[in-house]
Amino acid sequence: MKNVTGNKHLVLKTAIVVLVAVIGISLGYVGVGWINSYNVEKVYFDKGEYDLYEGQTVDVTAKTDPFGAKVAYSSNNENVAAVSGNGRITALSQGEAVITAFHKKSGKRATVRVVVMRSKLILNLTVSALDLDVGETYKLQTVSSFSGSEEKPQLKFRSEDTSVAEVSDDGEISAVGRGETTVVVYNEEYGVSKEVSLKVRPLLEKLSFAEGFAEIAVGERYVPQLELFPDGVRDTQVELKTSNDLVAAIVGDGVVGKASGDAFITATNKSSGKSTTMLVRVVRPAASVRVDKTAVSLYEDQYAEVNAEVFPENADNTDVLWTSSDEGVAKVNVVAKGKARIEGVSEGKCTVRAASADTPGVYAEIEVTVSKRQVTKPPQQTENISKETYINGILVVNKTYGLPKNYNEGGGLTAETAAAFEEMKKAAAKDGISLRIASGYRSYNHQKRLFEGYLTRRGQSREYVETYSARPGHSEHQAGVAIDVNMASDAFLGTPAQKWLDKHCVEYGFIIRYPEGKQQYTGFKYEPWHVRYLGKENAEKVSSSGLCLEEYLGITSEYAD
Ligand code: DAL
Ligand code: ZN
Repeated sequence: MKNVTGNKHLVLKTAIVVLVAVIGISLGYVGVGWINSYNVEKVYFDKGEYDLYEGQTVDVTAKTDPFGAKVAYSSNNENVAAVSGNGRITALSQGEAVITAFHKKSGKRATVRVVVMRSKLILNLTVSALDLDVGETYKLQTVSSFSGSEEKPQLKFRSEDTSVAEVSDDGEISAVGRGETTVVVYNEEYGVSKEVSLKVRPLLEKLSFAEGFAEIAVGERYVPQLELFPDGVRDTQVELKTSNDLVAAIVGDGVVGKASGDAFITATNKSSGKSTTMLVRVVRPAASVRVDKTAVSLYEDQYAEVNAEVFPENADNTDVLWTSSDEGVAKVNVVAKGKARIEGVSEGKCTVRAASADTPGVYAEIEVTVSKRQVTKPPQQTENISKETYINGILVVNKTYGLPKNYNEGGGLTAETAAAFEEMKKAAAKDGISLRIASGYRSYNHQKRLFEGYLTRRGQSREYVETYSARPGHSEHQAGVAIDVNMASDAFLGTPAQKWLDKHCVEYGFIIRYPEGKQQYTGFKYEPWHVRYLGKENAEKVSSSGLCLEEYLGITSEYAD
């Protein structure tokens, strides 16, 4: 054939080839259909008889003339030998069966005889399914009996997917990779086979805690979440361990906080040896804050001390944060741990909060009322003061506020003062403490003699005398509201009576009028023996404020000259 070139010829040639092929295939298809339906001369098997052992199979596809017609198969004894639609015979139990191949349209048929014998080899396995981890091995146990006179036949082993499991000649299965397969034990000659379905699971590759760190409170239980990779691992058991069970103890699958501190928690998977660690921090948070006053009333420029305590006492942080809801009304300043000073700024109400420093939601509050001070002008500093001074209902006698010369002349202690002292004296006696009046009421002239005596007889400077003795007209003793208890001397300090008086006098309406460290306000040095009767309510208020009377009332104690 002459060589032709050019696309046109090539396309044409391809089209013809395709057309011829399509026609050919179509004719063939029609032809086969026609043969199936009408034109079978003969149906036949290659062999007339098969001898099979129970369990064996054989393909016995029937042939037709002309070739290729479809036939139907049947067995006359399904218990002995079964046949599938495409001619596979399975020997089931000892006996004989006839297998027929039948071509329906032509009515042509062929038969084959099947003789089924009991196998001389009986095979059993101790397992039918296995679950192994990658890397694991398992020796299959076969139980077989052989009734032949020949030498007992060998069993063979086969894995249907060697990427999942391999099996050795003596039946040891090695799990190789994740997946499922079947391991077959067989002997072809005697037609026996048994299967083991095998599932191979992955080994744990990675174990980790969902969180690397957790903070829990003492007493709290925390169950750490674990992440295992890959999925499908057979042994997912982990054992938890703690680096410090005094801080964080393992209880079941969780961790319980025991005391403040850090502990490392380790989870270990035994079969893979994988482990992971996390940090658990145990804290003891503040549970409550208590304040020693829930309400404070102040004048502008006055202050009061308040105390706050965080509970439990062994909380990790017992510091207190102080805040005022309105610094224009009152300010709050820390004095010491748990102690603050609330200072009045201007008339109004606000709230001072004492909060736990590390748990701000835990707090106590103090209602603060700030009021304007009544302005009381000190009287003229003359020898003839006309009127005593009351401030907030309290008679004030000090260096700024004096008394008329004849005030309470011959009057003695006020009835309330005397009665309160008697009550206190009885109570002290019950505690084995003896209290008596060293000096109670002193008239203007009595005070004058005392004061002048210190200048003349003792020869002390006026400046010095004025640190411990009031000028006449300026002593509380004249008003009958002050008592020097047991002895007006520094020797009193530290005696049981002094300690008792200091602790209990407020319960009977007295205050230590010239406390230690308050000389700048009272004008007098510390006099542990000198008590001033204020009445129980005022004494309690002044005492609990931590202030001396001048500070409490916001007044001075200074002579004019
Ligand atoms: N010792 C006090 C201050 C008085 O003389 O009243
Ligand atoms: Zn006194």
